Amino acid sequence: MSEHSQPSEARTASYEADPAQVHRVLLLYSGGLDTSVMLKWIQDKYDAEVVCLTVNLGQPGEDYGVIEGKAMQLGALECHIVDARAEFAAEYLTPAIRANALYGGGYPLFTALGRPLIAKLAVEHARASGCDTIAHGCTGKGNDQVRIEATIATLAPELRVIAPVRSWAMGREEEIAYAREHGIPVKGGTEAAPYSIDDNLWGRSSEGRWIEDLGHAPDDDVFQLVTRPEEAPDEAQEIEIGFERGIPVSLDGRRMELVELIEAVADIAARHGVGIIDHIEDRIVGLKVRDIYEAPAAAILLPAHQDLERLVCTIHQNQFKPELDRQWAFLVYAGLWWEPLREDLDAYMERVNGRVTGTIGMKLYKGHARVTTRSSPNAVYDASLASFAQSGGLFSQTASPGFIELWSLQSRMAWRLHNS
Ligand code: ARG
Repeated sequence: MSEHSQPSEARTASYEADPAQVHRVLLLYSGGLDTSVMLKWIQDKYDAEVVCLTVNLGQPGEDYGVIEGKAMQLGALECHIVDARAEFAAEYLTPAIRANALYGGGYPLFTALGRPLIAKLAVEHARASGCDTIAHGCTGKGNDQVRIEATIATLAPELRVIAPVRSWAMGREEEIAYAREHGIPVKGGTEAAPYSIDDNLWGRSSEGRWIEDLGHAPDDDVFQLVTRPEEAPDEAQEIEIGFERGIPVSLDGRRMELVELIEAVADIAARHGVGIIDHIEDRIVGLKVRDIYEAPAAAILLPAHQDLERLVCTIHQNQFKPELDRQWAFLVYAGLWWEPLREDLDAYMERVNGRVTGTIGMKLYKGHARVTTRSSPNAVYDASLASFAQSGGLFSQTASPGFIELWSLQSRMAWRLHNS
């Protein structure tokens, strides 16, 4: 192991650390096996001090006291625990909702939205604690390394990065052996590797194990957040989401802060089996992979928002915006949160969403959520115009044949040319 675990001298990018220059490291610490091994390994291999940062983005069931205790026990100089849920909701999830953000048609981007915030906080805490380097636990095969390193290189050109998992070439067995050797507590022992999980307020992903076998239908034990639809209640539930300027502000008439509202919606949706996504995904580093997502709040709030947005926008806006939504989701997926095009797009999203105020009712039943009622003061909708029951008024049915003649003119001419 020792010849594998020397810090790599080969540096490809300008922001990668020169081992001789690493003196104090800000480690993005989760308390799990990889980053715990890393905490010791960095002290040993670089003879450097380590400051830990753990960011709370609303991942359920985390005990931050235990994480902090573990960090200090493993020799951290300091351990900072930051509750960034409100900032995550206001600055990252809000624009995502306004952009109906889904990548690849299904992934609500919870991890992709969290990483630029985590990396921004790492930069702030690294500077405040006098660190020269930031370390993270991402592998060399994923998108997260792109999101974190692109953020650091953009916001803090003076800081350097190390990514030990990418260079140390230890497998899980070797990491466990290293942990035992260095007094790092390992829960679970050496049985089969667990799923690789990432989660926050907006969703949860599982990767690895049988998920990599495309022919393997999901085992029940992967679903830790959303009830399997076949186990969900036999009674449907109707809920109502209120929006103001594109932001969800109430649930069943009760006003709530966004964090609280997302948690409440997630609870209801999860109980009804809503939000399971089995996704084939094109990673930005070229790989195609399968992810199992559980995103109960997103599975309610995104379709509700999109439906209300369609109601208050014109046919032209409704044709145009999905293109921008897709571009927004791609930039964020691809780790370019700080790219000015994202902010340009946000300006458009915000402008359109100025009208997205109203209420959407949804019915949840055994894995499905369907919009059932809509109301908005800004709806471009007039029941008396749309009605089959009446005619006359502003809409003249007798004008329709003239419209059809002109509207289809070029298509008719071309058809005749090509077909006679
Ligand atoms: N495929 C998703 C993404 O690229 C989820 C990644 C989860 N990350 C993780 N380290 N487990 O955003």
